[in-house]
Amino acid sequence: MKLLVTGATGHLGSHVVRTLLKSVPAADIAVSVRQPEKASEFSERGVDVRQGDFDDPASLERAFAGIDRLLIVSTDGDTATRIRQHGNAVEAARKAGVGFIAYTSAPNAQDSELFLAEVHRETENAIRATGIPYSFLRNNWYIENEAGAIHGAAAGAPLVTSAGDGKVGWAARHDYAEAAAAVLAGPGHENTVYELGGPLRTYAELAGVLTEALGREVQLQPVDDDTYAGIMKSVGVPEPALPIVTAIQQAIRTNTLAVESGDLEKLLGRPATPLAQAVSALTEAK
Ligand SMILES: NC(=O)c1ccc[n+]([C@@H]2O[C@H](COP(=O)([O-])OP(=O)(O)OC[C@H]3O[C@@H](n4cnc5c(N)ncnc54)[C@H](OP(=O)(O)O)[C@@H]3O)[C@@H](O)[C@H]2O)c1
Repeated sequence: MKLLVTGATGHLGSHVVRTLLKSVPAADIAVSVRQPEKASEFSERGVDVRQGDFDDPASLERAFAGIDRLLIVSTDGDTATRIRQHGNAVEAARKAGVGFIAYTSAPNAQDSELFLAEVHRETENAIRATGIPYSFLRNNWYIENEAGAIHGAAAGAPLVTSAGDGKVGWAARHDYAEAAAAVLAGPGHENTVYELGGPLRTYAELAGVLTEALGREVQLQPVDDDTYAGIMKSVGVPEPALPIVTAIQQAIRTNTLAVESGDLEKLLGRPATPLAQAVSALTEAK
């Protein structure tokens, strides 16, 4: 049984591979990466490192040859690019005769009004259309998305938000990775949809978590979207990213990420990492 992880040079994919290596022989693990030299950590441990670029369908088909179970880690970029890239990966998996596809999707992808959901809806549909057994790993928000705000709070700044009382299921990225590894390597996940995330929280509650983790009061600063974008600009968020970070606040405010489920704990076989612990790790990693 040969497993393959895409995006293995990234934060999530690399942790999936490190997790797999604890229980699966390296000879049964492959990765598909754009630049194989970036995956030397894994080639040195005996993992089969293959070259595959989501913009080069033939490279993906070669990379997926002989693979039984595949994890497609979503790429980044604009919606049209990602839909095309994911479509290339799904088609390559079909042509290569892959027997199972796990895919990192988004909360409530089929019905969500989240601006990022279209990519995931289209990709889920493309996977379903192949008839290949699948598992959709609908990851809620990484707490690492808040690293800038967390470092700011550690330096004495308030937690700024225009998301109001909207809720989001922040969890540690390594928990999502470990859940993905469990699905890729374990039995019984054919044709499943997992809504993965932590307990739903508002930014006010995140300020409370930060207060606990940092051992001193972190103030919440609720603002409107324009003020939020202005403050993000003043702290160095690049101009092209301002509409995106603001759209994320809007998305949280309208509860598009307020999807609650016990699926993360179920796949992990343990409680999710407490948010205060994940936040502390982020402040220490600075
Ligand atoms: N739920 C959330 O909160 C959240 C937050 C951030 C991202 N995401 C999504 O989850 C994915 C994984 O997260 P992450 O933190 O691991 O992101 P990351 O560290 O940016 O990793 C992205 C991975 O995708 C690979 N990739 C990008 N374009 C590619 C292409 N054309 N061909 C082959 N590989 C390509 C990158 O390869 P290179 O090393 O060659 O660049 C990298 O390995 C992201 O790509 C994004 O879709 C979700």
